[in-house]
Amino acid sequence: MEISSVSEFEKHISRVLISAKQIEEAVKAAGREISEQWDGRPILLVSILKGSFVFLADLNRAINVPCEVGFMAAKSYYDGTESVGEVKITMDLAQDVSKYHVIIVEDIVDTGRTLSDVYKLLSSRGPLSIKVITLLDKPERRLVDFKPEKALFTIPDLFVIGYGLDLGEYYRNLPYIAEYKE
Ligand code: IMP
Ligand code: MG
Repeated sequence: MEISSVSEFEKHISRVLISAKQIEEAVKAAGREISEQWDGRPILLVSILKGSFVFLADLNRAINVPCEVGFMAAKSYYDGTESVGEVKITMDLAQDVSKYHVIIVEDIVDTGRTLSDVYKLLSSRGPLSIKVITLLDKPERRLVDFKPEKALFTIPDLFVIGYGLDLGEYYRNLPYIAEYKE
């Protein structure tokens, strides 16, 4: 897929599902909640690249207690907009999680495969605690039993783009979440 004009870029943006303002308010509230629950021991926000980088940047700034960030890359193989069921850790986390309260930061939970694998892997390394915060949850599409501790928005079975989420690497730069149209 290659987009080479503004009109072609825009024609796939069907409608805004969640506005920048709605996202901002939900992220601020989530940051406040994490700050209020802090027990004085180190927090590590683990961003699953690439989709969660925008959410991580805003969530991190909505937290007003000490916290660190770490990055991991996982690839779920996609055939167009359909997951084909394989998850691979392509870049591991640099930190030793045993010293941290780990908060996995994800853009969207779809089939649940990516997070279920990442969660098992990080849990096996003995963190102080571990939980998942996701910007979006698409529960209708779940294929493995996985429930994030916190989902900012629950959405129906639609393919969405923006605020870090892509289609063929495009649209991560939209400041809102939109429905993608073929
Ligand atoms: P899962 O392993 O099926 O839960 O898929 C998780 C990953 O698939 C997410 O981290 C996204 O990268 C991608 N994904 C799932 N649904 C969407 C969507 O609607 N838009 C963009 N990416 C998606
Ligand atoms: Mg992702």
